[in-house]
Amino acid sequence: YNEVLSLCERYREQFFIGAAVNQYTIDTQQELLKKHFNSITAENEMKFENLQPEEGKFTFAVADKLVSFAKENHKQVRGHTLVWHNQTPDWVFTNKNGSFADRKTVLERMNTHISEVVKRYKDDLYCWDVVNEVVTDEGPKLLRESKWLETIGEDFIDKAFEFAHQVDPDALLFYNDYNESDPTKRDKIYTLVKGLKERGVPIHGVGLQAHWNVSSPSYDDIRRAIEKYATLELQIQLTEMDVSVFEFGDKRKDLKKPTEEMLGAQAERYEEFFNIFREYSDVITGVTFWGAADDYTWLSDFPVKGRKNWPLLFDEQHQPKQSFWRIMEF
Ligand code: XIL
Repeated sequence: YNEVLSLCERYREQFFIGAAVNQYTIDTQQELLKKHFNSITAENEMKFENLQPEEGKFTFAVADKLVSFAKENHKQVRGHTLVWHNQTPDWVFTNKNGSFADRKTVLERMNTHISEVVKRYKDDLYCWDVVNEVVTDEGPKLLRESKWLETIGEDFIDKAFEFAHQVDPDALLFYNDYNESDPTKRDKIYTLVKGLKERGVPIHGVGLQAHWNVSSPSYDDIRRAIEKYATLELQIQLTEMDVSVFEFGDKRKDLKKPTEEMLGAQAERYEEFFNIFREYSDVITGVTFWGAADDYTWLSDFPVKGRKNWPLLFDEQHQPKQSFWRIMEF
């Protein structure tokens, strides 16, 4: 095992290598995390519902533990995420009588949340996904319908970045989204971020989630997406990478383990993705996986409930998969 080289060491000249972690994986995958990753992201522990479940009641204990783990082991921490339509409690948008709160109230709540959270981790985090997934996949419209949009209006995005920047002017502030390589969505994300820049909003990076699979998106779409985002002259990070062994629309639920064919196809994909990332290593500053080993992945419940998936670089016994070896070879 000790002869396996460290992934983040191998990529030291290119970009950092991160993993999303939680309490369970910090306990059970600790050796792997220590050896191969030099950055961590909290999978859920820094989301709104976990940090401020009730108004004014901040619960930092679990997130603090993840940050301590990172500090003890000299890992960087990416903050995830301040403003999102999911995992945000309803009290943020409602009055005591259940009606929608007004713009001023919700803006104040947003400011309080961002200020408290960003302040707490000012010395420990180097970047934040300030706003997550606000671009819609559907139709010609730019923004997704959400309670943030409904209560505050379109400028909630600008405000979120401004609030974060005020408290920690040194933090790198990211806009983060999925389906980032789809040409239509890509152009919308580009338009959104370009607008932010033009208005002088403090933004420093674009996060591409990279929840991909064995057949999509295409290498061409990924390359074009990276090139387009690169013209914004911001950092680019791959923030939540995993490569599902199932093609889009494959709903089979009965597999107990991945076939050799699936693992081979996955390894080929990982190899080519990293070939592309290395080509753009002047703009790409980090690649974070949404997990470390196949014994724990959110994809084992999503989008098909109860279906096991094997999307990461290490297997359920924490051994390197073909995918790992292929991205180490260059
Ligand atoms: C996911 C977590 O992995 C799950 O445990 C949770 O139930 C839902 O959220 N895009 C994001 C991440 O930005 O925060 C999501 O994480 C995955 C999709």
